[in-house]
Amino acid sequence: MILATRPVSTPLLGELTPPGDKSISHRALIFACLARGQSRITGLLESEDVRATANACRQLGMGMRQEQDALVLEGVGAAGLSRPQSPLEMGNSGTAMRLLAGVLAAQPFDSELRGDESLNRRPMTRIVKPLTMMGSHIETSAGGTPPLRISGNPALQGIDYRSPIASAQVKSCLLLAGLYATGCTTVTEPLRSRDHTEKMLPAFGVRLQGACGVKGGSRLVGASVQVPADISSAAFFLVAAALVPGSDLLLKNVGLNKTRDGIIHVLQAMGADLSILDRRLQGGEDTGDIRVRYSGRLRGIEIPLELIPSLIDELPVILALAAVSDGTTSVRGAAELRVKESDRLSVMARGLAALGVSLQEYEDGVDIQGGEIQGGRVDGSGDHRCAMSFAVLGQVAAAEMLVAGSENIDTSYPGFVRDLSQTGGLVRVVQRGSVNVRKRA
Ligand code: S3P
Repeated sequence: MILATRPVSTPLLGELTPPGDKSISHRALIFACLARGQSRITGLLESEDVRATANACRQLGMGMRQEQDALVLEGVGAAGLSRPQSPLEMGNSGTAMRLLAGVLAAQPFDSELRGDESLNRRPMTRIVKPLTMMGSHIETSAGGTPPLRISGNPALQGIDYRSPIASAQVKSCLLLAGLYATGCTTVTEPLRSRDHTEKMLPAFGVRLQGACGVKGGSRLVGASVQVPADISSAAFFLVAAALVPGSDLLLKNVGLNKTRDGIIHVLQAMGADLSILDRRLQGGEDTGDIRVRYSGRLRGIEIPLELIPSLIDELPVILALAAVSDGTTSVRGAAELRVKESDRLSVMARGLAALGVSLQEYEDGVDIQGGEIQGGRVDGSGDHRCAMSFAVLGQVAAAEMLVAGSENIDTSYPGFVRDLSQTGGLVRVVQRGSVNVRKRA
């Protein structure tokens, strides 16, 4: 899919509730599936990634029906999963694959998890290695990538795992496997990754062991989950309003979990005018409305290393913002960006360079010198967050911009083009479908 943007000459104004949080949506479905009894979810993200998890849970036996504004789920209990009749398709979703692998590793049946072209390039050794230490048997492709062929082993052993990377997918995978293992399973990380799993397990009746541990045999019982709007989707509008003169946007009901709010700290440090209104606790998660008002040109900063896990998914749009801010913005400690839905450091660096931005790429980051940007053609490379970041930047480019490789926006934010247009942005779809240059070559 190709998007076309035009520079806007009027402010972005109004109110918007971004779609439901993707991380919380995946977890709510998986935990509801493992729970005994009924769960109700409101605000679930309706996107391709979350659909992959929902379909997998259905294949594992979970019942699902819509009742007014809630999705009602009939869990089968951790020991009640059915053997799937065919491989489970995870599409583009690393979260779906890594979290479900933790569950499936402990089952009394074999299973297979498959991904799309992008997911099939992503590293799975980070979960296969610790799961193997727990006693599981998982085959990957050469290079440790999907598909995952899992020989279920219902006799896993708990571990104390010191993860070399801050990854909530690794942590959550192991905690899910740990629910089935003998003894305790704990995970420690170099920096704390998002903690939705630790926040949501107690709502499903699981008592945590310390800050990040579970006891094997813990039972889950059905629960109600209210999914807040995704701060990672709100981020595109926070940045757009901070860039377009005169803008004033209210983003409603946004998740403000402390392990996810790095974007707010960075925008404020760059000089943006953000205020949080009506901060409240909703279903165990901090939630609130964010008002963002244009406050003049922003200034580049060094992004503090310790904030990286809390803004890992927002780095593409932060890099776009840096391209039109004064001075230099430096990012380091972000090598994980190279193994997301695309190599986000190189996709963003290539796109920004094509727009005339001067930058220096490093193995684990980039330095960007802000300036004015031209229009032109960039490639989101099938990565939803890179494509949306370029579309936001297109609002303040000097001329029209084409964003190729935008087809996967639906994995996290199906209404993005509509929402940006409704708030006053200039963006439209000029070609649907995926044009896969690599395949054709
Ligand atoms: C996620 C964790 C992060 C994040 C991803 C969602 C999750 O990945 O980038 O979009 O829901 O657990 P890592 O665990 O690889 O850091």
